[in-house]
Amino acid sequence: MAGGETVGIVGETGCGKSTLGKAILSILPPRTRVTGHLLFRRTDLNTLDREALRRLQGEEIALIFQDPMTRLNPLMTIEQHFLETIRAHQKVSKREALERTMAALTSMRVPESRIRNYPHEFSGGMRQRIMIALALVLTPSLLVADEPTTSLDVIVEAQILEILQDLKRNYRMSLLLITHNLGIVAEVCDKVAVLYAGKVVEQGSVTDIFARPVHPYTRLLLQSIIHLDTKELRSIDGQPPDLLFPPSGCRFHPRCPYAKPVCHEKVPPLEQFRSGQSAACLFGKDFV
Ligand SMILES: Nc1ncnc2c1ncn2[C@@H]1O[C@H](COP(=O)(O)OP(=O)(O)OP(=O)(O)O)[C@@H](O)[C@H]1O
Ligand code: SF4
Ligand SMILES: [Mg+2]
Repeated sequence: MAGGETVGIVGETGCGKSTLGKAILSILPPRTRVTGHLLFRRTDLNTLDREALRRLQGEEIALIFQDPMTRLNPLMTIEQHFLETIRAHQKVSKREALERTMAALTSMRVPESRIRNYPHEFSGGMRQRIMIALALVLTPSLLVADEPTTSLDVIVEAQILEILQDLKRNYRMSLLLITHNLGIVAEVCDKVAVLYAGKVVEQGSVTDIFARPVHPYTRLLLQSIIHLDTKELRSIDGQPPDLLFPPSGCRFHPRCPYAKPVCHEKVPPLEQFRSGQSAACLFGKDFV
């Protein structure tokens, strides 16, 4: 993805969206085997040592999670959270750290006067804004947001998405937005990658993929919104597979209406079917 771009990662529950986000931040459990390359400004994150990774996290790449309460310490004030985060990464005076804290809170429209409050004194929407401000206080160039608005009501969700859009424009920050809500992707993202069973099955610009999806899974995801008038991605027959025992060949074959015998054996490569749009389907050309 390019600087300032927003990329959406979509897929049903259990497809590996959060795992992908955690892999980028190198916070998967220690015994996880990560294959492939995680390129950030031409550096493969898989090759960095712990210290280099720690520096990169927070300063260059930040992650926000779905449930802010799991990340905020109930015994610490908002001010203490910010000071601790800033000082873990940078040697700055308390005064400067406080100035940055105020600027980050203001950019997320959290009143400065509430800096001495504790997390439980805020509403869910406010807590999520504080979490985002905490991720932004070190001005990262990439923000990975894992379902940042799922637990919030629609109005608060819309406000937070609007603020994220503003921030992205102002800071030229790239945003990787993990969501199961295709409506949000259509509204907010420039590009989208569709995950199925831990693999990207289609990627491209939001305009192309919404207008002319190639992969049968993407097509079903999009149809499920239109037919059921829902933004939840849970209306395709069957379930995503257990990733400990993924299906052979194309992982989507047990649920694919177009599956042929070869699909049980051959793993489809991610191929370009149109300029800037690729999909992993052995019969992709039939759907172009
Ligand atoms: N590439 C992968 N290879 C092997 N296992 C994986 C992979 N990606 C995810 N998993 C496993 O699949 C399970 C579900 O993954 P994950 O939590 O990332 O899904 P998700 O798409 O974020 O789901 P949800 O929408 O419910 O948050 C996890 O237990 C994870 O360990
Ligand atoms: S490779 Fe076969 S099973 Fe997989 S999506 Fe394409 S047609 Fe369906
Ligand atoms: Mg998840």
